[in-house]
Amino acid sequence: MKIIKAKDYEDMSRKAANIISAQVILKPDCVLGLATGSTPIGAYKQLADWYKKGDIDFSEVSTYNLDEYRGLSHDDPQSYHYFMRENFFDHINVDLNNTHVPDGSNPDAAAACSEYDRIVAAAGYPDLQLLGIGNNGHIGFNEPDDHFSKGTHCVDLTESTIQANSRLFDSIDDVPRQAYTMGTQTIMYARMILVVANGEAKAQAVHDMCYGPVTPECPASILQLHTNCVVVADEAALSLCE
Ligand code: PGA
Repeated sequence: MKIIKAKDYEDMSRKAANIISAQVILKPDCVLGLATGSTPIGAYKQLADWYKKGDIDFSEVSTYNLDEYRGLSHDDPQSYHYFMRENFFDHINVDLNNTHVPDGSNPDAAAACSEYDRIVAAAGYPDLQLLGIGNNGHIGFNEPDDHFSKGTHCVDLTESTIQANSRLFDSIDDVPRQAYTMGTQTIMYARMILVVANGEAKAQAVHDMCYGPVTPECPASILQLHTNCVVVADEAALSLCE
């Protein structure tokens, strides 16, 4: 695991965007695994900026997002599909046909999840997987558990995740209770993993991810076993790692 310390959120975002940009420049038709949440928004903005300046071309890139709320359609403003368009896809020249998010609108969880596994495998898995980390150490929506998950599956969100995500909804009752998420094993198939984290609230999770025991109680801890994992975090998120 390589840990890169950033001064603050801006610096973290720029460093992460530089790494993603390098991937796209080195392999224009690369497969990017993407993440939602507040943390990657700055990196997406930076990449969109560089696209506008003519520095990056996303026309051959394909993308696979980690997760989606179960029960939300693509055009629901709270869906991750919508989030990706609003925060990234609508500002770059990626072909929307090459962007993929699990189909939250499919109530048949087994069908939605196995179809997502099929298309991620057919794409050859991400060259680079971008990840945020939850306060409880989750990656994607792989919540603390007694085992590591494998393929895409339907999860019940933990109270701590529902609480953390409620800031984006009118009320906590509106937060969906389930999601479809890529499994931990699938995440580990990515050839490079880039974790972004900022703020003090992430400090314990970042510490446990980097230095704690490898345990499904902190799903991100499995990244210690990945051969090409980079963590870009600000000083506050790294404050327990000194
Ligand atoms: P956040 O979420 O970026 O909104 O903090 C990260 C995550 O839950 O994976």
